[in-house]
Amino acid sequence: IDALLAEGVAGKRVFVRADLNVPLDGTTITDDGRIRAVLPTVKALAEAGARVVVASHLGRPKGTPDPAFTLAPAAARLGELLGAEVAFAADTVGESARSVVAGLANGGVAVVENLRFNAGETARDDAERAAFADRLAALADVYVGDGFGAVHRKHASVYDLPARLPHYAGHLIADEVGVLKKLTDDVKRPYVVALGGAKVSDKLAVIDELLGRADRILIGGGMAYTFLKAQGHEVGISLLQEDQLPAVTEYMERAGKNGVELVLPVDVLVAGEFPDLRTKAPANPSTVAVDAIPADQQGLDIGPRTSKLYASKLADAGTVFWNGPMGVFEHPDYAEGTKAVAQALVDAPGFTVVGGGDSAAAVRTLGFDESAFGHISTGGGASLEYLEGKTLPGLAALED
Ligand code: 3PG
Repeated sequence: IDALLAEGVAGKRVFVRADLNVPLDGTTITDDGRIRAVLPTVKALAEAGARVVVASHLGRPKGTPDPAFTLAPAAARLGELLGAEVAFAADTVGESARSVVAGLANGGVAVVENLRFNAGETARDDAERAAFADRLAALADVYVGDGFGAVHRKHASVYDLPARLPHYAGHLIADEVGVLKKLTDDVKRPYVVALGGAKVSDKLAVIDELLGRADRILIGGGMAYTFLKAQGHEVGISLLQEDQLPAVTEYMERAGKNGVELVLPVDVLVAGEFPDLRTKAPANPSTVAVDAIPADQQGLDIGPRTSKLYASKLADAGTVFWNGPMGVFEHPDYAEGTKAVAQALVDAPGFTVVGGGDSAAAVRTLGFDESAFGHISTGGGASLEYLEGKTLPGLAALED
């Protein structure tokens, strides 16, 4: 983007592909981190006199307009954070978008409606994506990719559109890639990785890669129960991906061979039911050792002994990468494990990276000071796939 700003953008229509996919409670944004993260790029372009067209997906609507996934609240928040009026187009490439963009003054900012209200955005068929990318390209003169959270998606606005316009990487993408490069090229040891979240299937590829890189891998969240089952424990009605048991078993063996410490919970919080996240009614969980999970109960957070154990494994870390909450942190009765790991990152002597929409939201909603972490990535799947060493379509499209 520095090159673009040096060339001059006054009067040009600049399409900024952002990731404004923020968590919402109804129409209330519960964590605006991703909106704040794109501000440096939007501000720099507006201050340079560009006519800025911001676009993003939100959630996973099915290729047609769906009011539950409107970007209107995100556009309003962007305006508040910029301290400027932000125009909002009620469609993405239709009449509203065309007239809103045509009405932008130099230095003005507009947000167009959710990219995924158009089937062409996510289409597998190249021609269908290309047709939608052509319509997006008609809205702008220049493309700036700054939606780091979506660079792993081969979607029209991420992958096909940059090929149609002069294209540049925004500040956020440049920062994110700079930090993640450190984890692949220049890691200070011990390198400790904490992985949580619901599904082990989302994390298999990154674990596979990390078994050759990390010194310790700490496992929590819903995915821990597939590991515990593979270790021979009964996990009651906890989340379990039976089909992943062979892979997980192989990883545990490989960790042993490679000298990587793969650390699993020793105790967990259990209850008969998943908690009510709306009312946050008391859940009254019990703490049990992992070899004593009752048949009719499910694990919903790591227990206090595990929290201490994980904190001790992070205490001397030279580098930490953490992705995925340790439990159902959205409910206060199941937030302690995630809090303990976040606090251990704050206390760790080395460079700490929080990756992932959920873990990033967790540190902010649990009241941690963002500056206490080395880097909080805006990318969930994107940061994992970067660490897996995959070619990310949205980065490749900007590099060419
Ligand atoms: C994310 O939340 O990780 C990004 O916004 C990408 O969203 P997606 O997984 O729906 O493509």
